Amino acid sequence: MSESDVSVYEAIRRRRDVRAEFSGEVIPDETLMRILDAAHRAPSVGNTQPWDFVVVRNPETLNTFAAHVADARLKFAQSLPEDRRSTFDPIKIEGIAESGTGIVVTYDPSRGGPNILGRHTVDDTGLFSAVLAIQNLWLAAVAEEIGIGWVSFYDEKYLTELVGIPSPVRPIAWLCVGKVTEFQQVPDLERFGWRQRRPLADAVHYESY
Ligand SMILES: Cc1cc2nc3c(=O)[nH]c(=O)nc-3n(C[C@H](O)[C@H](O)[C@H](O)COP(=O)(O)O)c2cc1C
Repeated sequence: MSESDVSVYEAIRRRRDVRAEFSGEVIPDETLMRILDAAHRAPSVGNTQPWDFVVVRNPETLNTFAAHVADARLKFAQSLPEDRRSTFDPIKIEGIAESGTGIVVTYDPSRGGPNILGRHTVDDTGLFSAVLAIQNLWLAAVAEEIGIGWVSFYDEKYLTELVGIPSPVRPIAWLCVGKVTEFQQVPDLERFGWRQRRPLADAVHYESY
């Protein structure tokens, strides 16, 4: 399948957070650049484009980060009450080494200087913009049969130092990026009984919340 064969609605429907289905095959550079180009076309407040992408493929860095994430996972597991802990136990929360490629997405709050059109009222719009780049990348990846897994089980300072991010830039996501054997049809957290999806009707409000 080529990127042009997948409609936006189809990509949205098929998109999954991937953890266990990475095939181990590293994605070609051309594919990587296409999905980064999709990310880079995202809308942004004041056209600031506050994102950057650190591509990590060094196995040593991947393994080092995976070990850090394993620690964070353990701490979370230990914080849970017994029944939630047993539900959480079988859930895989990352595919850092198996995916073969990590993309650290960063947010630079200083990009665009002090007078940012639109962020003068809602400062978070800068961060929202960087997250939109991630969603673009995620959907483009689906069109390429590439899986994405968003990892947030990390200490921000640790990741900042691991990949040499200068202040005031922040890492906002580690994305595992790789070929997949399949896309699950149902989100992992739903399949493992952690949390179900809300019906659309519960999320839509008219005239007031
Ligand atoms: C901001 C954000 C952070 C996330 N962090 C993690 C994570 O650390 N580990 C993980 O396994 N999944 C993580 N996820 C994936 C969610 O668990 C997943 O999107 C959700 O369960 C719905 O599943 P789906 O994406 O397959 O539809 C994250 C998703 C988002 C949007």
